[in-house]
Amino acid sequence: MSRNWMIYGANGYTGELIARKAVQIGMIPVLAGRSFDKIKPLANELALEARIFSLEDSNEVKKNLGDIDLVIHCAGPFSITSAQMIEGCLAAGTHYLDITGEAEVFEHTHSSELAGRAERARVVLCSGVGFDVIPTDCTALKLKEMMPDATHLSLGFQSDSGVSPGTYKTMIQGLATGSLERLEGRLTPFPLGTKHRKIDFGKGPQTAMAIPWGDVSTAFYTTGIPNINTWIPMSAIMIRGARIMQLLRPLLGNTAIQGLLKKMVEKKISGPDELSRGRTPAYIWGEARNEKGDILTARIQTANVYSLTADGALAVAKRLLDQSNIDGGSWTPAGLFGADFIEELPGSGKFELS
Ligand SMILES: NC(=O)c1ccc[n+]([C@@H]2O[C@H](COP(=O)([O-])OP(=O)(O)OC[C@H]3O[C@@H](n4cnc5c(N)ncnc54)[C@H](OP(=O)(O)O)[C@@H]3O)[C@@H](O)[C@H]2O)c1
Repeated sequence: MSRNWMIYGANGYTGELIARKAVQIGMIPVLAGRSFDKIKPLANELALEARIFSLEDSNEVKKNLGDIDLVIHCAGPFSITSAQMIEGCLAAGTHYLDITGEAEVFEHTHSSELAGRAERARVVLCSGVGFDVIPTDCTALKLKEMMPDATHLSLGFQSDSGVSPGTYKTMIQGLATGSLERLEGRLTPFPLGTKHRKIDFGKGPQTAMAIPWGDVSTAFYTTGIPNINTWIPMSAIMIRGARIMQLLRPLLGNTAIQGLLKKMVEKKISGPDELSRGRTPAYIWGEARNEKGDILTARIQTANVYSLTADGALAVAKRLLDQSNIDGGSWTPAGLFGADFIEELPGSGKFELS
């Protein structure tokens, strides 16, 4: 039986990428979003159904999801849009996937209240079915399986992928907050630029800085490891720059300045093209440590950030649509499909452990 599913925010850079790949592999989504002028031409071109609705009216959301089995929610920043879509999905009995990387959104998706409601409604809520967090989440689970007594987990990635408009806007949205790590099970803020170390992500040792990547939230739900931090390569001068930026935080959180920066992104940023996506793989690194001081490292090469986001989101959607009997609740990608899920995605290598 063919099942109805939807991409919401289908006209955005990533939503459109997912829509086009879906059609290439024979999947038939309904394309949805809030702007008729942007959604309808794409739906016409791909010969797909279009639905136009805003997330602001909960009745409209529920009505439009009534015959939909699964949504891939691509309209970010998700701190602004996710809660409304999740409510619609719970009311309509629709599985919810999104491509967020925002820790506060993961925390909301995994709140015990939502997890309980999703379980009772037999609905899957799975945030982060893109580059953030599929590869790092699978790396976290691989390390936990190989070192069950791990107490500390570090995860990171290196990529020259280029950045999409929505990713920039989401980064602007987060400018007013600092960095984040998990300490003894609790999310704990600290000033950006104050934690650095050397890491070999897969291309030789480099200076790296701790950043608030979504795994500080999700890897805890996947592994139960209580201490988690997340890293990207960063030159010493950029780390100093990040510390200086912290002083501007009150200014960067100002609504008018945020609006100005987001308008600039809309005018100037279009996101990496197909050629550039094909040339820029990503390198994932993870390190687990136990009380005895043993250290285990995992590395895996993957496809470009945006290619992996499209392939990963579609792979999760396809598996859920193909399964008739699945436990509802709040899930992480590796929690749903295991550590080796990343190795099955196009462009991925195999885990290397040392
Ligand atoms: N997990 C990952 O690795 C990963 C990868 C890629 C992207 N992302 C995230 O995905 C999000 C989208 O990125 P993008 O570059 O594709 O963005 P984009 O090109 O700016 O597109 C954003 C989409 O969201 C819609 N939208 C924004 N705010 C909305 C609201 N309040 N209500 C309804 N629709 C709304 C936009 O609709 P209009 O055009 O009508 O404004 C558009 O369809 C960002 O948060 C980004 O960080 C994550």
